[in-house]
Amino acid sequence: MTKRKILITSALPYANGPTHLGHLLEYIQTDIWARFQKQQGHETYYVCADDAHGTPIMLNAQKQGITPEEMVQQVSIERQRDFADFNIEFDNYHSTHSDENRELSELIYTRLNDKGHIKKRTISQLFDPEKSIFLPDRFVTGTCPTCKAEDQNGDSCDACGATYSPTELIDPKSVMSGATPVLKDSEHFFFDLPAFEDMLKTWLHSGSLQAEMANKLDEWFADGLQQWDISRDAPYFGFEIPGAPGKYFYVWLDAPIGYMASFKNLCDKKGLNFDEFWTEGSDAELYHFIGKDIIYFHSLFWPAMLDGANFRKPNNVFAHGFVTVNGAKMSKSKGTFVKARTYLEHLDPEYLRYYYAAKLNSGVTDLDLNLEDFAQRVNSDLVGKVVNIASRCAGFITKKFGGKLSSTVMDEALLGSFVAAKDSIAGHYENREYSRAVREIMTLADKANQFIDAEAPWVLAKNEDTLERAHQVCSMGLNLFRALLTYLKPILPGMAANVEAFLNTELSWDSLETPLVDHEINKFKALMQRVELDKVNAMIDASKESLEKKVGGQSTQPAADSPLAKEPIADEIEFDDFAKVDLRVAKIANAEHVEGADKLLKLTLDLGGETRQVFAGIKSAYAPEDLIGKLTVMVANLKPRKMRFGMSQGMVLAAGPGGKEIYILNPDEGSQPGMRVM
Ligand code: MSP
Ligand code: ZN
Repeated sequence: MTKRKILITSALPYANGPTHLGHLLEYIQTDIWARFQKQQGHETYYVCADDAHGTPIMLNAQKQGITPEEMVQQVSIERQRDFADFNIEFDNYHSTHSDENRELSELIYTRLNDKGHIKKRTISQLFDPEKSIFLPDRFVTGTCPTCKAEDQNGDSCDACGATYSPTELIDPKSVMSGATPVLKDSEHFFFDLPAFEDMLKTWLHSGSLQAEMANKLDEWFADGLQQWDISRDAPYFGFEIPGAPGKYFYVWLDAPIGYMASFKNLCDKKGLNFDEFWTEGSDAELYHFIGKDIIYFHSLFWPAMLDGANFRKPNNVFAHGFVTVNGAKMSKSKGTFVKARTYLEHLDPEYLRYYYAAKLNSGVTDLDLNLEDFAQRVNSDLVGKVVNIASRCAGFITKKFGGKLSSTVMDEALLGSFVAAKDSIAGHYENREYSRAVREIMTLADKANQFIDAEAPWVLAKNEDTLERAHQVCSMGLNLFRALLTYLKPILPGMAANVEAFLNTELSWDSLETPLVDHEINKFKALMQRVELDKVNAMIDASKESLEKKVGGQSTQPAADSPLAKEPIADEIEFDDFAKVDLRVAKIANAEHVEGADKLLKLTLDLGGETRQVFAGIKSAYAPEDLIGKLTVMVANLKPRKMRFGMSQGMVLAAGPGGKEIYILNPDEGSQPGMRVM
């Protein structure tokens, strides 16, 4: 086999907030691939770094009253601890805010500029006059120019899906100060992406890009490539552009260069040859693992920048989908936005590595972390099948045979079939079809268990005549187990290390051909606990952020059956959102049954001058005569809704889960119909 030179990266996480289970999909996926390549004997490096620059990080640091450098430093320490505890093994972890990255960014920019690939143009942008800062798209909100929905983001509308530039917003506001932004001119630097269209098309068709990615690229080509704005004005946390005081590289310019910078830092530490991996025509392989949200940056801008600056292009960019939990987007109020640290406080990292691997393939579809399935899968596969083999065989070897395996292999054909699966399993890893690799390994685990069941060494060991056969069976079982753990080693490095100690041998793909005979093993220790659902639930409870209330510095959790636990408090809103709801005191002038409606009462509400007709679903809790004359609170500006029985012109406020438990709100004595409730 020829030895390959492989450089692997994962996307550089923003140094702005904690690691979560979504991130981990990517770092686990990449780590498995890097470990696999290393186990195949290839010269492999896996590098990563913090993505330190940009406006959000600058502002976040400001809010905390520290410098961006300090904040980036703090986040980096936690981040690296998270990764290490999930057994993600980088050869180097660096930062985009580093000397190497500054030098490489300047070099690439200068080469591009010298070749005429940088264009300058004055553009008009929204500027916050109070904070004296140009506003990135997501720091402006306003009314959608297309559908007129209020409070939409600066670049796209959640209500109608339109995309636009923030200057098109109606009645724009700065998120930072609430001030109305003004348009201000500034010279910006652009990277001439359209000049690379032919090169990109060739790159796209020469490689083996994922089908989904190739399709996306084709769409973008069809839309026409645009020049890319790579400069930002001060104040900005980033690198100043050479020869352009007050102008900074946009974070996405120097972020991918951070891949090179991290590798450069490694080369300097280890005496490796940087150019061998990065110059044009290099025979080293380069792969980027990324999420599907950042394909554009990695498959258009990045190869074009590299090409324009005389560096090699990636062999491939591998995109993955997004993690959902229990079928939905990760949510802070549901407790499914789980931080890496919170997970580690409750569960074994190898469970998650296994579960992700068991579901990962080479495509970009989203991956659902279904927590019940997670527990069930880990318990039945790893604990029930794999570890079970060792725990059933090891005791006899230690107790009855002095810790030594038999001197012959009992079933050469069976062991041979395990060894023969090597190429197929390796192929699945190579193609990032981890779920197939896992399936094949578990099929082998089933075979091993069937072998042990059929031989029943616990029976054989009871009788002097069959004692030697028990020895043979258990030794055979442990050789099969050894093959399984060798195959699982990229996914379960922690368990593999414990198994190496137990089997007193290094698990390597190469040595599988040589069975362990006459070989001394060590005492068996439990390799993995079952996943307990209680712990999974405790992790989810601990992740329910909006429920946490600080009481004297301590956080308290509501009782499991409390209304708060049943329905967590919704996401935070701005005062302006609340103020849009016009609540009024109303007097219930009349209440009556509605013919044909089994839940509704028809209320006539007196607002002290106007009346409104409202259908309220409170029949199960109130008789009409008990309501007449009472004061209550209504939403007075709710858009009227046509119901089967007539128009409903508002809503009365009530609490409770329903049925008999519905409680209409009563304003205190003295309030008058029509008064606004705030
Ligand atoms: N800083 C940029 C990447 C620059 S690379 C030169 C960035 N950072 S990130 O912290 O937002 O995301 C890091 C990686 O995690 C990205 O590849 C992103 O797609 C991935 N994920 C973030 N949330 C995720 C999920 N919920 N699920 C799967 N991957 C997710 O983007
Ligand atoms: Zn809209």
